[in-house]
Amino acid sequence: MIPKLKISDNLELSQLSLGFWRLLKWNFSGKELLGFIKELTEIGVTSFDHADIYGDYMCESVFGNILGENSHLRSQIQLVTKCGIKLVSKNRPANSFHCYDTTKDYIIAEAEKSLKNLKTDYLDLLLIHRPDYLMNAEEVAEAFTSLKNSGKVNNFGVSNFTRSQFELLQSFLPFKLATDQIEINLFNFKHLENGDSEFLQMNKIIPMVWSPLAGGRIFTDKSEKGERIRYVLGELREETGAEYDVIALSWLLKLPLNPVIVLGSGKIKRIRNAAKAFNLELTNEQWYRLWTASKGHEAP
Ligand SMILES: NC(=O)c1ccc[n+]([C@@H]2O[C@H](COP(=O)([O-])OP(=O)(O)OC[C@H]3O[C@@H](n4cnc5c(N)ncnc54)[C@H](OP(=O)(O)O)[C@@H]3O)[C@@H](O)[C@H]2O)c1
Repeated sequence: MIPKLKISDNLELSQLSLGFWRLLKWNFSGKELLGFIKELTEIGVTSFDHADIYGDYMCESVFGNILGENSHLRSQIQLVTKCGIKLVSKNRPANSFHCYDTTKDYIIAEAEKSLKNLKTDYLDLLLIHRPDYLMNAEEVAEAFTSLKNSGKVNNFGVSNFTRSQFELLQSFLPFKLATDQIEINLFNFKHLENGDSEFLQMNKIIPMVWSPLAGGRIFTDKSEKGERIRYVLGELREETGAEYDVIALSWLLKLPLNPVIVLGSGKIKRIRNAAKAFNLELTNEQWYRLWTASKGHEAP
């Protein structure tokens, strides 16, 4: 059973959600993609993470084509997308340099494109993809308020923001930002160590955690750190009977942040297996053995 987490007054996300960044690499036919989405919803993975730029600006429309033909699915799923990064792409001839854009007009235009591509009337959650050195928080707040008032987007958040960047934007908004989508995994403790984790807990903000398996590096990374992590994952597999991915996800679920996990696998079997993480509780000692393996030294 995959828990639902209340992200805001009008939004619950499945605690195991799926990211569609790698969708084009999965090489699904339309029929296969529909089957994949249906199976996900059946097992309780109902929250889907997108971004305007994924798949060179193509992922949203590949997904949207299926959703458009199966509109009954819309009420069963939650759609999250992001904007703010501009890529040079044949699919966006007007973009001439890889940069960020968080101006009011750009955010509104991108959100409207996402609605069109995803073939939906509303987004459940729109995120600013990355902190923009040139962000005018007042303008972002105006864009968010306009999208909310028009009913096009129900909730807003940010991604990869630090506490101070989050607080700046929040200070201009009449409503609460719903989340910060951040990277946390056995290779990356940044947001656990820079005060963000405490800030999110104090403000009862549930983060969405991306690349929970470090993009697959927990299985493949050849560095000493990778080898140390896999050695302890192997020990814990012996002790718990669980696979590496389940242990790595359980490690995240033990965090007091109680995050939404944004998994990136295109294999339903792996996603089903990942859900076992909700039934595995690591001991504090097991959790710190993985922490120690990642750091390369014991806790001070
Ligand atoms: N906000 C941001 O800035 C940001 C940045 C990056 C990603 N994201 C979001 O986060 C989502 C997840 O990121 P991610 O794809 O890096 O997540 P991830 O779940 O850490 O990594 C997924 C990768 O690991 C592989 N994998 C999974 N289980 C495996 C296993 N048992 N053995 C071997 N390989 C395995 C997958 O391959 P298979 O498909 O073959 O299983 C896939 O290539 C993205 O789709 C996107 O929505 C957000």
